Amino acid sequence: MNAPLVKVEVRGRVGLLTLDRPKTLNALSNEVINELAEAMRAFDADENIGAIVLTGSEKAFAAGADISAMQGWSYMDVYKQDYLGGNWESLKRIRKPVIAAVAGYALGGGCELAMQCDFIIAADNAKFGQPEIKLGVIPGYGGTQRLPRAISKAKAMDLILTARMMDAEEAERAGLVSRVVPLERLMDEVIEAATIIASMSLPSVIMAKECVNMAYEGSLNDTLMFERRNFHALFATEDQKEGMKAFVEKRKPEFKHQ
Ligand code: CAA
Repeated sequence: MNAPLVKVEVRGRVGLLTLDRPKTLNALSNEVINELAEAMRAFDADENIGAIVLTGSEKAFAAGADISAMQGWSYMDVYKQDYLGGNWESLKRIRKPVIAAVAGYALGGGCELAMQCDFIIAADNAKFGQPEIKLGVIPGYGGTQRLPRAISKAKAMDLILTARMMDAEEAERAGLVSRVVPLERLMDEVIEAATIIASMSLPSVIMAKECVNMAYEGSLNDTLMFERRNFHALFATEDQKEGMKAFVEKRKPEFKHQ
Protein backbone atom coordinates (compact mmCIF):
# COMPACT_ATOMS: atom_id res chain seq x y z
CA MET A 1 0.00 0.00 0.00
CA ASN A 2 1.25 3.53 -0.79
CA ALA A 3 2.00 5.94 2.06
CA PRO A 4 -0.84 8.40 2.73
CA LEU A 5 -0.54 11.74 0.93
CA VAL A 6 -2.63 13.54 3.54
CA LYS A 7 -1.88 13.17 7.26
CA VAL A 8 -4.97 13.07 9.46
CA GLU A 9 -4.87 14.12 13.14
CA VAL A 10 -7.33 15.27 15.77
CA ARG A 11 -6.62 18.05 18.31
CA GLY A 12 -9.56 18.28 20.71
CA ARG A 13 -12.55 19.19 18.52
CA VAL A 14 -10.31 20.26 15.63
CA GLY A 15 -9.56 18.00 12.66
CA LEU A 16 -6.08 18.65 11.24
CA LEU A 17 -5.19 17.65 7.67
CA THR A 18 -1.60 17.99 6.44
CA LEU A 19 -0.67 17.62 2.77
CA ASP A 20 2.30 15.28 2.78
CA ARG A 21 3.94 14.97 -0.62
CA PRO A 22 7.19 16.82 0.14
CA LYS A 23 9.22 15.72 -2.90
CA THR A 24 6.92 17.68 -5.21
CA LEU A 25 6.19 20.55 -2.79
CA ASN A 26 2.73 19.06 -2.23
CA ALA A 27 1.78 19.12 -5.91
CA LEU A 28 -1.92 18.37 -6.07
CA SER A 29 -2.38 15.15 -8.02
CA ASN A 30 -5.84 13.63 -8.31
CA GLU A 31 -4.71 11.07 -5.72
CA VAL A 32 -3.93 13.86 -3.21
CA ILE A 33 -7.31 15.48 -3.83
CA ASN A 34 -9.17 12.18 -3.54
CA GLU A 35 -7.54 11.49 -0.16
CA LEU A 36 -8.13 15.05 0.97
CA ALA A 37 -11.80 14.97 0.01
CA GLU A 38 -12.33 11.65 1.76
CA ALA A 39 -10.66 12.90 4.97
CA MET A 40 -12.63 16.18 4.88
CA ARG A 41 -15.91 14.33 4.44
CA ALA A 42 -15.06 12.07 7.38
CA PHE A 43 -14.39 15.11 9.62
CA ASP A 44 -17.54 16.80 8.32
CA ALA A 45 -19.59 13.77 9.36
CA ASP A 46 -17.87 13.34 12.76
CA GLU A 47 -19.89 14.97 15.52
CA ASN A 48 -16.78 15.28 17.71
CA ILE A 49 -15.20 17.67 15.20
CA GLY A 50 -16.25 21.34 15.08
CA ALA A 51 -13.66 22.85 12.72
CA ILE A 52 -11.05 21.67 10.23
CA VAL A 53 -7.52 22.96 9.55
CA LEU A 54 -5.74 22.29 6.27
CA THR A 55 -1.99 22.84 6.05
CA GLY A 56 1.14 21.79 4.14
CA SER A 57 4.81 22.00 5.02
CA GLU A 58 6.93 24.97 6.09
CA LYS A 59 8.27 25.21 2.51
CA ALA A 60 5.01 24.73 0.62
CA PHE A 61 1.32 24.70 1.36
CA ALA A 62 1.02 23.40 -2.23
CA ALA A 63 2.92 24.37 -5.41
CA GLY A 64 -0.14 23.78 -7.58
CA ALA A 65 -1.72 21.05 -9.62
CA ASP A 66 0.65 18.25 -10.60
CA ILE A 67 2.35 19.48 -13.77
CA SER A 68 4.10 16.16 -14.42
CA ALA A 69 0.74 14.38 -14.42
CA MET A 70 -0.90 17.02 -16.63
CA GLN A 71 1.82 17.48 -19.21
CA GLY A 72 0.78 14.66 -21.53
CA TRP A 73 -2.98 15.09 -21.25
CA SER A 74 -5.10 15.96 -24.29
CA TYR A 75 -8.28 18.02 -24.38
CA MET A 76 -10.31 14.79 -24.34
CA ASP A 77 -8.37 13.51 -21.30
CA VAL A 78 -9.23 16.57 -19.20
CA TYR A 79 -12.75 16.91 -20.59
CA LYS A 80 -13.74 13.29 -20.08
CA GLN A 81 -12.44 13.10 -16.51
CA ASP A 82 -13.92 16.57 -15.86
CA TYR A 83 -10.53 17.50 -14.43
CA LEU A 84 -10.85 19.86 -11.40
CA GLY A 85 -14.50 18.83 -10.99
CA GLY A 86 -15.42 15.71 -9.00
CA ASN A 87 -13.57 15.46 -5.69
CA TRP A 88 -11.87 18.82 -6.27
CA GLU A 89 -15.20 20.59 -6.52
CA SER A 90 -16.70 18.53 -3.69
CA LEU A 91 -14.44 20.37 -1.22
CA LYS A 92 -16.71 23.40 -1.43
CA ARG A 93 -19.58 21.32 -0.04
CA ILE A 94 -17.86 20.76 3.33
CA ARG A 95 -20.24 22.34 5.85
CA LYS A 96 -17.89 22.82 8.81
CA PRO A 97 -15.42 25.73 8.71
CA VAL A 98 -12.08 24.97 7.10
CA ILE A 99 -9.08 27.21 7.88
CA ALA A 100 -6.06 27.13 5.58
CA ALA A 101 -2.75 27.44 7.47
CA VAL A 102 -0.38 28.56 4.71
CA ALA A 103 3.41 28.56 4.98
CA GLY A 104 5.72 28.78 1.97
CA TYR A 105 4.38 28.47 -1.56
CA ALA A 106 0.66 28.55 -2.32
CA LEU A 107 0.77 28.65 -6.11
CA GLY A 108 -1.71 27.84 -8.84
CA GLY A 109 -4.05 25.12 -7.58
CA GLY A 110 -2.37 25.57 -4.15
CA CYS A 111 -3.49 29.19 -3.96
CA GLU A 112 -6.91 28.14 -5.24
CA LEU A 113 -7.15 25.37 -2.65
CA ALA A 114 -6.33 27.89 0.09
CA MET A 115 -9.00 30.25 -1.29
CA GLN A 116 -11.48 27.35 -1.35
CA CYS A 117 -11.06 27.21 2.45
CA ASP A 118 -13.14 29.60 4.55
CA PHE A 119 -10.22 31.77 5.52
CA ILE A 120 -6.46 31.81 5.34
CA ILE A 121 -3.98 32.42 8.14
CA ALA A 122 -0.51 32.84 6.65
CA ALA A 123 3.00 32.46 8.01
CA ASP A 124 5.35 35.36 7.32
CA ASN A 125 7.19 33.24 4.69
CA ALA A 126 4.03 32.56 2.64
CA LYS A 127 4.01 33.33 -1.09
CA PHE A 128 0.83 33.37 -3.15
CA GLY A 129 0.48 33.34 -6.92
CA GLN A 130 -1.33 32.06 -9.98
CA PRO A 131 1.57 31.30 -12.35
CA GLU A 132 -0.44 29.07 -14.76
CA ILE A 133 0.05 31.54 -17.59
CA LYS A 134 3.73 30.55 -17.67
CA LEU A 135 2.60 26.99 -18.49
CA GLY A 136 0.38 28.12 -21.35
CA VAL A 137 -2.84 27.63 -19.38
CA ILE A 138 -4.97 29.65 -16.94
CA PRO A 139 -6.07 29.03 -13.34
CA GLY A 140 -8.64 26.23 -13.51
CA TYR A 141 -9.76 25.68 -9.94
CA GLY A 142 -11.52 28.98 -9.31
CA GLY A 143 -8.55 31.39 -9.42
CA THR A 144 -9.95 33.70 -12.08
CA GLN A 145 -13.20 33.98 -10.11
CA ARG A 146 -12.20 33.87 -6.44
CA LEU A 147 -9.03 35.98 -6.65
CA PRO A 148 -10.72 39.15 -8.04
CA ARG A 149 -13.44 38.83 -5.40
CA ALA A 150 -10.80 38.43 -2.67
CA ILE A 151 -8.26 41.07 -3.67
CA SER A 152 -9.81 43.29 -6.41
CA LYS A 153 -9.78 43.00 -10.19
CA ALA A 154 -6.61 45.09 -10.56
CA LYS A 155 -4.48 42.95 -8.28
CA ALA A 156 -5.94 39.69 -9.60
CA MET A 157 -5.15 40.73 -13.19
CA ASP A 158 -1.65 41.74 -12.13
CA LEU A 159 -0.97 38.36 -10.48
CA ILE A 160 -2.69 36.17 -13.08
CA LEU A 161 -1.26 37.93 -16.14
CA THR A 162 2.30 38.50 -14.91
CA ALA A 163 2.55 35.27 -12.85
CA ARG A 164 4.35 37.19 -10.10
CA MET A 165 4.20 36.04 -6.50
CA MET A 166 2.74 38.08 -3.65
CA ASP A 167 4.33 37.82 -0.20
CA ALA A 168 2.36 37.40 3.03
CA GLU A 169 2.41 41.09 3.90
CA GLU A 170 0.99 42.09 0.50
CA ALA A 171 -1.57 39.28 0.71
CA GLU A 172 -2.78 40.59 4.07
CA ARG A 173 -2.95 44.17 2.78
CA ALA A 174 -4.92 42.96 -0.23
CA GLY A 175 -7.38 41.02 1.94
CA LEU A 176 -6.50 37.52 0.77
CA VAL A 177 -5.43 36.40 4.25
CA SER A 178 -7.03 37.20 7.56
CA ARG A 179 -3.78 37.39 9.55
CA VAL A 180 -0.04 36.90 9.18
CA VAL A 181 1.95 35.32 11.99
CA PRO A 182 5.59 34.31 12.44
CA LEU A 183 6.22 30.89 10.88
CA GLU A 184 7.01 29.28 14.24
CA ARG A 185 3.63 30.48 15.65
CA LEU A 186 1.52 29.42 12.64
CA MET A 187 0.11 26.10 13.80
CA ASP A 188 -0.49 27.24 17.41
CA GLU A 189 -2.33 30.30 16.19
CA VAL A 190 -4.46 28.39 13.66
CA ILE A 191 -5.32 25.56 16.07
CA GLU A 192 -6.29 28.20 18.64
CA ALA A 193 -8.62 29.92 16.13
CA ALA A 194 -10.11 26.57 15.10
CA THR A 195 -10.58 25.59 18.75
CA ILE A 196 -12.49 28.81 19.40
CA ILE A 197 -14.73 28.13 16.38
CA ALA A 198 -15.25 24.51 17.47
CA SER A 199 -16.42 25.69 20.90
CA MET A 200 -19.29 27.65 19.34
CA SER A 201 -22.71 26.19 18.60
CA LEU A 202 -22.23 24.04 15.50
CA PRO A 203 -25.59 24.87 13.85
CA SER A 204 -24.91 28.60 14.09
CA VAL A 205 -21.33 28.11 12.85
CA ILE A 206 -22.57 26.21 9.79
CA MET A 207 -25.31 28.76 9.08
CA ALA A 208 -22.87 31.65 9.47
CA LYS A 209 -20.51 29.98 6.97
CA GLU A 210 -23.35 29.39 4.50
CA CYS A 211 -24.55 32.99 4.81
CA VAL A 212 -21.08 34.52 4.32
CA ASN A 213 -20.57 32.27 1.29
CA MET A 214 -23.89 33.45 -0.12
CA ALA A 215 -22.71 37.07 0.21
CA TYR A 216 -19.77 36.09 -1.91
CA GLU A 217 -21.70 34.09 -4.49
CA GLY A 218 -25.23 35.49 -4.88
CA SER A 219 -27.15 38.73 -5.50
CA LEU A 220 -27.73 41.10 -2.54
CA ASN A 221 -31.54 40.76 -2.39
CA ASP A 222 -31.41 36.97 -2.39
CA THR A 223 -28.53 36.76 0.05
CA LEU A 224 -30.06 39.17 2.58
CA MET A 225 -33.21 37.01 2.60
CA PHE A 226 -31.06 33.87 2.93
CA GLU A 227 -29.34 35.41 5.96
CA ARG A 228 -32.62 36.49 7.59
CA ARG A 229 -34.25 33.09 7.16
CA ASN A 230 -31.19 31.39 8.69
CA PHE A 231 -31.22 33.86 11.57
CA HIS A 232 -34.89 32.94 12.16
CA ALA A 233 -34.08 29.21 11.93
CA LEU A 234 -31.51 29.46 14.75
CA PHE A 235 -34.35 30.27 17.15
CA ALA A 236 -35.35 26.60 16.76
CA THR A 237 -32.06 25.47 18.38
CA GLU A 238 -31.36 24.71 22.03
CA ASP A 239 -28.03 26.54 21.68
CA GLN A 240 -29.77 29.85 20.92
CA LYS A 241 -31.78 29.51 24.16
CA GLU A 242 -28.62 28.58 26.11
CA GLY A 243 -26.44 31.26 24.47
CA MET A 244 -28.83 34.12 25.24
CA LYS A 245 -29.77 32.83 28.70
CA ALA A 246 -26.07 32.53 29.60
CA PHE A 247 -25.47 36.13 28.47
CA VAL A 248 -28.32 37.41 30.64
CA GLU A 249 -27.09 35.30 33.59
CA LYS A 250 -23.49 36.57 33.01
CA ARG A 251 -21.96 33.09 32.61
CA LYS A 252 -20.32 31.08 29.82
CA PRO A 253 -22.74 29.16 27.60
CA GLU A 254 -22.69 25.37 27.51
CA PHE A 255 -23.49 24.53 23.91
CA LYS A 256 -24.87 21.11 22.99
CA HIS A 257 -24.44 21.75 19.26
CA GLN A 258 -28.13 21.27 18.59
N1 CAA B 1 3.78 19.85 -10.09
C1 CAA B 1 4.68 18.83 -10.11
N2 CAA B 1 5.88 18.92 -9.53
C2 CAA B 1 6.23 20.06 -8.92
C3 CAA B 1 5.35 21.16 -8.88
C4 CAA B 1 4.07 21.02 -9.50
N3 CAA B 1 3.15 22.00 -9.48
N4 CAA B 1 5.95 22.17 -8.22
C5 CAA B 1 7.16 21.72 -7.86
N5 CAA B 1 7.34 20.44 -8.28
C6 CAA B 1 8.50 19.58 -8.09
C7 CAA B 1 9.68 20.01 -8.97
O1 CAA B 1 9.53 19.51 -10.27
C8 CAA B 1 10.86 19.45 -8.21
O2 CAA B 1 10.91 18.08 -8.49
P1 CAA B 1 12.38 17.38 -8.70
O3 CAA B 1 13.08 17.53 -7.40
O4 CAA B 1 12.05 15.96 -9.03
O5 CAA B 1 13.06 18.14 -9.80
C9 CAA B 1 10.42 19.58 -6.74
O6 CAA B 1 9.00 19.73 -6.77
C10 CAA B 1 11.02 20.80 -6.06
O7 CAA B 1 10.73 21.92 -6.87
P2 CAA B 1 11.87 22.96 -7.38
O8 CAA B 1 13.17 22.28 -7.53
O9 CAA B 1 11.32 23.69 -8.56
O10 CAA B 1 11.93 23.90 -6.08
P3 CAA B 1 12.32 25.46 -6.03
O11 CAA B 1 12.43 25.78 -4.58
O12 CAA B 1 13.49 25.75 -6.91
O13 CAA B 1 11.05 26.25 -6.66
C11 CAA B 1 8.69 26.69 -6.97
C12 CAA B 1 9.82 26.21 -6.01
C13 CAA B 1 8.89 28.17 -7.28
C14 CAA B 1 7.38 26.48 -6.23
C15 CAA B 1 8.75 25.87 -8.27
O14 CAA B 1 8.76 24.49 -7.95
C16 CAA B 1 7.57 26.08 -9.20
O15 CAA B 1 7.53 27.08 -9.88
N6 CAA B 1 6.59 25.14 -9.22
C17 CAA B 1 5.45 25.19 -10.12
C18 CAA B 1 4.45 26.21 -9.70
C19 CAA B 1 3.31 26.27 -10.71
O16 CAA B 1 3.49 26.55 -11.89
N7 CAA B 1 2.07 25.99 -10.23
C20 CAA B 1 0.90 25.97 -11.07
C21 CAA B 1 0.59 24.57 -11.52
S1 CAA B 1 -0.73 24.47 -12.71
C22 CAA B 1 -2.14 24.58 -11.79
O17 CAA B 1 -2.12 24.65 -10.58
C23 CAA B 1 -3.43 24.54 -12.57
C24 CAA B 1 -4.65 24.91 -11.80
O18 CAA B 1 -5.13 26.02 -11.84
C25 CAA B 1 -5.36 23.90 -10.99
